[in-house]
Amino acid sequence: MMVKSIKPIKDETRPKVYIETYGCQMNVNDSEVILSILQDAGYVLTEKMDEASLILANTCSIRDNAEQRIWGRIEQFRLQKRRREGVIIGIVGCMAERLKEKLLDTHVVDLVAGPDSYRSLPGLISRIAPDSPQIDVLLSHEETYADISPVRMDRNGVSAFISIMRGCNNVCSYCVVPYTRGAERSRDPYTIVREAEELFANGYREVCLLGQNVDSYYWKDPATADRNVNFAGLLEMVAKVSPEMRVRFSTSHPKDISDEVIYTMAVYDNICKHIHLPVQSGSNAMLEKMRRKYTREWYLERVSKIRSVIPDCGITTDVIAGFCGETEQDHRDTLSLMEEVCFDGAFMFQYSERPGTLAARKYPDDVPDEVKTARLNEIIALQNRMSLKSNEKEIGKRLTVLIEGVSKRNSGELFGRAGNNKVCVFPACGHHVGEYVTVEVTSCTSATLISKTV
Ligand code: SAH
Ligand code: SF4
Ligand code: F3S
Repeated sequence: MMVKSIKPIKDETRPKVYIETYGCQMNVNDSEVILSILQDAGYVLTEKMDEASLILANTCSIRDNAEQRIWGRIEQFRLQKRRREGVIIGIVGCMAERLKEKLLDTHVVDLVAGPDSYRSLPGLISRIAPDSPQIDVLLSHEETYADISPVRMDRNGVSAFISIMRGCNNVCSYCVVPYTRGAERSRDPYTIVREAEELFANGYREVCLLGQNVDSYYWKDPATADRNVNFAGLLEMVAKVSPEMRVRFSTSHPKDISDEVIYTMAVYDNICKHIHLPVQSGSNAMLEKMRRKYTREWYLERVSKIRSVIPDCGITTDVIAGFCGETEQDHRDTLSLMEEVCFDGAFMFQYSERPGTLAARKYPDDVPDEVKTARLNEIIALQNRMSLKSNEKEIGKRLTVLIEGVSKRNSGELFGRAGNNKVCVFPACGHHVGEYVTVEVTSCTSATLISKTV
């Protein structure tokens, strides 16, 4: 079986598409689905916006600055449109879903398609005419693109994303995702395993299973309930594809991550020992307002459970600074939780109010910007210290690394990740991309483990 690859631009008569991707890993994978659909409709991919007849931006709405960046890109696209008659500009993804017709007011955008409308792209494109832009932002309860083979754009040929579900049924009060991506639905596990098998047969050595809350993955078998599959079951099915194929996943929700998932991780050597477990805040008052449905104590218990079953499991997180009504004490609670857990890494953000969310309707965004920034900086500084501390613990250890590429700083060095998701850099010594190597960590920074092969 073949993994669909990027079609070479042989035939100059074929229309060319240029795709820019913003936002999370799911959007990266969605762009691969979009390319698959467009290649079947005759398009070829180009990396040069100047030669594309179709320019797409797959967009993100998670924070206001993500959207502001896209508005800036739309102005760039306006220039393309002035210079080249007939070029089509499409906005797809979360911002398309959120803003809908409003994007047409720019008089730049010809095409607006939401995350569940990608199958209709060829049809929409064919109907575009001057003064007749096309829009499809219907959300679906069924669409998982299960039968579409994504065209891998990563080019390292080693590690690939597989979306196992779409949408989200949690209503975290700050979050726009349930509105932009609709209700949660799980994908048929047999199509997931088939995709993993095809990737393995084509040289891939790592898959990352993606969902907004992978722990609530649940497939109801249409024939018999005996064959229903939960996330632990799915992990096991994918881990069995080959012991040489690593399995990662993201994102775990602290309220839903089960002991069964943790034990399954422990049983299979090829399930990477890393959990991305966004905490958002260390204050119970904030967690309640955020509607995360767990407490600080619950979160800390999950972390101890993980560490008791998998002692060297990497744990990373997301943190929001300056949510509505956050006091200095709430902020201190976040810092103390971070210190207590000593996360191996974190994505850290200032709260950004999103129109239409529960928080936007119910709670004033009342932490002044300069306070948000100061708190965020404090959180970042603490995490840098924690990351360094966590990396220093690796010095002298031997780790198995899957080689992902050549170091950007030094062409004689390679890089890859250990199972715990830490990036290792080491002299090439005849090794190549896609191989597993054992390295010994000799020193570190807060971001990288400097190592040598052994
Ligand atoms: N489904 C994942 C998160 C997806 S969004 C989960 O539940 O953990 C990725 C991260 O963006 C979130 O974890 C959160 O930290 C951040 N985020 C989401 N909405 C935000 C907002 N309105 N302002 C600031 N950060 C936000
Ligand atoms: Fe957003 Fe919460 Fe869903 Fe994550 S779980 S996507 S933060 S609503
Ligand atoms: Fe992802 Fe951004 Fe949408 S984070 S789900 S692309 S709003």
